[in-house]
Amino acid sequence: MDAIRMNNITKTFGTTVALAGVDLRIRVGEVHCLLGENGAGKSTLMNILYGLYRADSGDIAINEVPVEINSPKMAQSLHIGMVHQHFMLVESMTVLQNIILGNEEGTFAIDYKKCRERIEVLEHLYHFDFDLDAKVSELSVGEMQRVEIFKAVYRGADIIILDEPTAVLTPQEVSVLFRILDDMRNQGKTIVFITHKLQETMRLSDRVTVLRNGKFVQTVETKDMDPETLATMMVGHAVELVTHKGACCPGDPVLEIRGLKIFSTSENTINLTVRAGEIYGIAGVDGNGQQELERFIVGTERPKIGEVWLNGSDISACTVAKRKKLGLGVIPSDRHRNAILPGMSIVDNFLLGLQRNSRFSSMGLVRHKALEAYAESMITAYAIKVSSERQHISELSGGNQQKLVFSREVGLDPVLLVAAQPVRGLDIGAIDYIHNQLLELRDRGQAILLISTELSEIMEMSDRIGVLYKGGLIVERDADDFTVEELGLYMAGGKGA
Ligand SMILES: Nc1ncnc2c1ncn2[C@@H]1O[C@H](COP(=O)(O)OP(=O)(O)OP(=O)(O)O)[C@@H](O)[C@H]1O
Ligand SMILES: [Mg+2]
Repeated sequence: MDAIRMNNITKTFGTTVALAGVDLRIRVGEVHCLLGENGAGKSTLMNILYGLYRADSGDIAINEVPVEINSPKMAQSLHIGMVHQHFMLVESMTVLQNIILGNEEGTFAIDYKKCRERIEVLEHLYHFDFDLDAKVSELSVGEMQRVEIFKAVYRGADIIILDEPTAVLTPQEVSVLFRILDDMRNQGKTIVFITHKLQETMRLSDRVTVLRNGKFVQTVETKDMDPETLATMMVGHAVELVTHKGACCPGDPVLEIRGLKIFSTSENTINLTVRAGEIYGIAGVDGNGQQELERFIVGTERPKIGEVWLNGSDISACTVAKRKKLGLGVIPSDRHRNAILPGMSIVDNFLLGLQRNSRFSSMGLVRHKALEAYAESMITAYAIKVSSERQHISELSGGNQQKLVFSREVGLDPVLLVAAQPVRGLDIGAIDYIHNQLLELRDRGQAILLISTELSEIMEMSDRIGVLYKGGLIVERDADDFTVEELGLYMAGGKGA
């Protein structure tokens, strides 16, 4: 039996055709992966199923019964749940309160004891393990995501949609998530899973549907597939993904971190130097000081102990704007909070951080022509999928927002680029493009600090690697002197800590 049937779904936003007659069939009890390049229409299709958007035409059947889904509330009553990439939890409330929020039984006071009992039964069934009284603000990203999944289950969801759930997770958290999803499949739940990581598709799914440019390409059995074939289906032609990495010829020091204390509570301080023309990779499991290091270099936080130097001057006390003027480019790990203005147009977003750049402003006035020409050239160079530069940035697909931030930050030839998780949420072709761009920047003599929790990315891209563990740099070597296994051991603190 099909849990979901979406027939001939069409959706346009202004002049953008997001979906053009897409069909989707999902069987009861399967894990079904939705694949496609950035902007292919995956999120839009699932937002329609969850009642967040209305399709222009087409129809939907749940468990083979035709339905109209006008709101998430209605989707929930049809036992559909969705976990978005940006969590919708109330941070100041506890796990328990968040789970029952919006699903209180009866109209009077909430019977917490009864809720707790019901939660515990479900927790046991799916091997979740929450501290129900912990505040959501104290949870890690992976834990918050598990609360979101559990919330859907608690509301009685039999069909669970996960939009790029692994993009923000560490490898350890990904394995926990996969175990939970295996459990849910064993309990007969139907799971729709969006990802850009083909290895995950191979590991997790029973079947795969590929979308390309808003159109349905094919639904296939995963066991008949391999990553190369899937990539070809997504892109529409054979893809050869190679990064062209030549020898590294480092020059003078560009970034110097001197005696910097990352966590005020720890003894550790770090020293590191990134030279012109090299990529220095910071490896580490998330939460070992990566975000703090990023903030100290960017200037959103000032170090209490230690200094940050750029091109031979101490910039520890400089504002973010001043650092940008001195040639700092930043791709922040949390692009939603730190790199885009969601309510503003694409063009305005290209101006962000460059308001004082003489190329784009003169005597306090924005030079619109120059700015628009710049935005247009970047949109073309990076194949950013937009319908117009006047469009709001929040209307772009996740991956296309990320491409915009990248192009803006590297477009003006920074002397130092801090790239934190630069390819998070990008499709395979875009990852390849961005990686080659980084190598090109390095070959032009720029210094790059790459902060990434993806071991393969660190190994492939870096000239030198330092491992961050509990706020300390526990080892630093030429990239060629590490094996993957060794690096993994250091990251887990099993060596050198
Ligand atoms: N609210 C909106 N307003 C205008 N255009 C939109 C809106 N939502 C999506 N789009 C457009 O629809 C197309 C499909 O976007 P969608 O977010 O579904 O892509 P996606 O496959 O999820 O991509 P990604 O992998 O980057 O997340 C894109 O061109 C996007 O710009
Ligand atoms: Mg999406």
